[in-house]
Amino acid sequence: MKTVLITGANRGIGLGHARRFAERGVAVFATARRIDADDELHRLAHAHPGRFTVLHYDAADPEAPAQLKAALGDTPVDLLLANAGATGESGQALGNIHVDGVLDLIRTNALAPLKLVEALVYNITLSERKLVALQSSRMGSIGGNTTGGSYEYRLSKVAVNMIARNLANDLAPRGVTVVALHPGWVRTRMGGQGANIDVETSVAGQQQLLDTAGPAHNGRFFNYDGTELPW
Ligand SMILES: NC(=O)c1ccc[n+]([C@@H]2O[C@H](COP(=O)([O-])OP(=O)(O)OC[C@H]3O[C@@H](n4cnc5c(N)ncnc54)[C@H](OP(=O)(O)O)[C@@H]3O)[C@@H](O)[C@H]2O)c1
Repeated sequence: MKTVLITGANRGIGLGHARRFAERGVAVFATARRIDADDELHRLAHAHPGRFTVLHYDAADPEAPAQLKAALGDTPVDLLLANAGATGESGQALGNIHVDGVLDLIRTNALAPLKLVEALVYNITLSERKLVALQSSRMGSIGGNTTGGSYEYRLSKVAVNMIARNLANDLAPRGVTVVALHPGWVRTRMGGQGANIDVETSVAGQQQLLDTAGPAHNGRFFNYDGTELPW
């Protein structure tokens, strides 16, 4: 892996990936929707001069994919890790469904990664590894859903899963491998402090999988420990 682009890299799992890839000598494009010259991403940029670049990206901005493409030019990107994601405001349960909230979350969690892949696919095809990883969630698994609830988050992540499988079919002829990932239940702002695993464990497992991912992994859904999940 020579070059990766990670969205939502300013905190949580995305920051963990950015830090670990940088420590491994990989060139990192780390995106955040709020750029602060005094933040952890800029400390990483100072620590890894010339191979850690902080870029602006707001998944809710329709112009953002074209702006990222312009910033990258024709730089080959071995791995696009579309990690930025949100849970929505209200944790919607039956009896409390807000259609506009659901649609907003689908835009951020599913349509934004799709438009990003669309904008950057040429950069991915220029690379050696040609990998796309969409940070989904077990909450988007239909086969694994035994608990109900969380309509807006589940709908946004099941959409990501279909996008991953569809992109896998569309991009296989160009040599691109597309996977959907579940990071585990991770102690971040989203996962909460009661979650099962820390960021480092999730990131190490996901990077081990991504290091070896290739055409045999195309169109599949993986837990952070490398086991396969049901769609
Ligand atoms: N933690 C878990 O247990 C868990 C489980 C399953 C799946 N996931 C998935 O893993 C990914 C990372 O989650 P996390 O736990 O690291 O969450 P987190 O700590 O809440 O971080 C979320 C990241 O996404 C960014 N983001 C949110 N909305 C955005 C937008 N509109 N445009 C650009 N960036 C945006 C955030 O940026 P700001 O700082 O600007 O808000 C932040 O960098 C998400 O896709 C999440 O759904 C997490």
